[in-house]
Amino acid sequence: MKSTLTGKTVVITGAGSGIGRATAHTFAARGANVLAVGRTPEKLAETAAGRPSIVPMTADITDQSAPQEIISQAVAAFGGIDALVNSASVFGPTHLAMITPGEFDHFIAVNLRAPLLITQAALPCLERSDGTVVNISAAIGQRGWPGLSVYGATKSGLDFFTRSWAGELAPRGIRVVSVAPGPIETPILENNELDDQAVMIVHQTQERIPLARLGMAREVAWWIANFTESLAGYTTGAILAVDGGYSAV
Ligand SMILES: NC(=O)c1ccc[n+]([C@@H]2O[C@H](COP(=O)([O-])OP(=O)(O)OC[C@H]3O[C@@H](n4cnc5c(N)ncnc54)[C@H](OP(=O)(O)O)[C@@H]3O)[C@@H](O)[C@H]2O)c1
Repeated sequence: MKSTLTGKTVVITGAGSGIGRATAHTFAARGANVLAVGRTPEKLAETAAGRPSIVPMTADITDQSAPQEIISQAVAAFGGIDALVNSASVFGPTHLAMITPGEFDHFIAVNLRAPLLITQAALPCLERSDGTVVNISAAIGQRGWPGLSVYGATKSGLDFFTRSWAGELAPRGIRVVSVAPGPIETPILENNELDDQAVMIVHQTQERIPLARLGMAREVAWWIANFTESLAGYTTGAILAVDGGYSAV
């Protein structure tokens, strides 16, 4: 079936790595223009290499001016925005007995505040295009995760945003969904500092996957892109687990 994404524009945060990078490649392969946002220029350049429809943008999404700058850059480069994928995230141990207010605030700033402010800044564009917001949460958000409670809470919070915004934005023609990955093979563990207990919990999680393997980033990206195709037009407020059955059993 022919993609309906040809010539459309998507903004992807966290596009220098993992799921964000695979998502940029999936959209580009379907003929879409991509504004690929991340902190590290070298990683973004790798994402865009050999794919002229991917334009890299270096930005820390927690900077005060970043949300509006990201949207303005997408409009300047491509004339509008049809989809926004909030994939950038920090991950790591957050033991209740040890977490500091500064660490807590950083999790909230990257994983919740920035997606909210970028989505808010994108609303006029998304309204014009009957656009889609895809929040990347986590299958773990439905369970407790000892030692990783703040990360999990931000992901549960993102799903709550998805359901709530779906209702708020439906009258404006904007759909909002979450894709909730289980353990996926990406550099997420190398990109974040984990303590021994966190590593053990991650490994225990991986051992409980019914399909008995890690997912591939492109298997998540496929669903993200599909949610923005026109035949997904009746889907909003949905949370889709892409987790090898982890959250089902
Ligand atoms: N991999 C998994 O097993 C898994 C499981 C469940 C959910 N998820 C979710 O899937 C999404 C993607 O994860 P991933 O595995 O692809 O992780 P990843 O490879 O670590 O990618 C995360 C990206 O976020 C970017 N980022 C972090 N802080 C940022 C900031 N302040 N401003 C701009 N960009 C920032 C990083 O950019 P730099 O590298 O330049 O810092 C990196 O490219 C996340 O939301 C994660 O919570 C992943």
